[in-house]
Amino acid sequence: MLDKLTAIQQKISSSLDSIKILAELANFRVQTLGRKGELTRLLKAVGSLPPEERKELGKKVNEIRDQILSEIENKKAALEASALAESLITETIDVTLPGKTSPAGSLHPVTQFMWRLEELFISLGFDIVEGSLIETVYHNFDALNTPHNHPSRDEGDTFYIDETHVLRTHTSPMQVRTMERQKPPIRVIVPGMVSRRDEIDATHTPVFHQMEGLVIDRGITFADLRGMLDTIVRYVFGQEAKVRLRPSHFPFTEPSAEVDISCYACVTSKPGKLLPPKDDCSVCKGSGWVELWGCGMVHPEVLRKSGIDPSEYSGYAFGLGVTRMTSALYGIPTLKPYFENDVQFLKQF
Ligand code: PHE
Repeated sequence: MLDKLTAIQQKISSSLDSIKILAELANFRVQTLGRKGELTRLLKAVGSLPPEERKELGKKVNEIRDQILSEIENKKAALEASALAESLITETIDVTLPGKTSPAGSLHPVTQFMWRLEELFISLGFDIVEGSLIETVYHNFDALNTPHNHPSRDEGDTFYIDETHVLRTHTSPMQVRTMERQKPPIRVIVPGMVSRRDEIDATHTPVFHQMEGLVIDRGITFADLRGMLDTIVRYVFGQEAKVRLRPSHFPFTEPSAEVDISCYACVTSKPGKLLPPKDDCSVCKGSGWVELWGCGMVHPEVLRKSGIDPSEYSGYAFGLGVTRMTSALYGIPTLKPYFENDVQFLKQF
């Protein structure tokens, strides 16, 4: 039996020498030391020998087993080292090749512009509130003093969900909701999407973005509103930009005005300079002014309906046409590209 053992040991050592790759070594280990390996079989056979032989032979088999194990480990380390050395020579990596990046999207110009406006209002102490896209007819119209026969309530102008709910046609219902739940002083802006039944053309889409502003406190006057409009317009269009107010009508403000700004395409097109309007300017048609939004002093009846005493408090509101201002700022002539999700267009901003 001892002879057999020595023979096995020699056989194992010499076949170990001829192994050249790691995968072969793993197989070899299983064949020799695994459950069905020669050595394991021998070890089992030792169990059936008489006790005095068993002890000595068992010890010998275990010694040989340990020796083979350490030979295999040494061989493994040597094979790994030479495999690494070889791969360092044959596998070269070109670190100058461009990496693989997955294309990232970009923020929509309207979102970017909204965020810029929000920064201004936050710095002026305003809170930001957002309403829901579906409003009650009461908040969208009645509470805003808009009578039943007003054209904006017509089914041809407004998307009705049912008899008492509409897709909000402006952000003004949030004036009412804010006043219902908060006592003055109030300073909020309401950025958001609104919907109207408009045919799509260069300047109309059935959805667009507005930003409502509402300020209510003791002693607020039209002069405060005017000052705020100047601040907003200069922040967005530069220090030279001028504001012009034209008398207008909204059921929920009194007095009401339309806000025009000096034409950004011709009059203030050169920073630091005010130029005369160009007769052939496609933006202002030679008038020098561009209409941007509506505003006014909050109507006493709207204050009363929302639970605020008009003899104690007054305030102003404005509704910025965000989409229109974005177009003005970037010189985008039509509204269509805003809704087409064309990355080529969106990437430019
Ligand atoms: N809600 C009005 C509109 O959509 C704009 C507006 C807001 C006017 C606030 C006055 C005060 O046309």
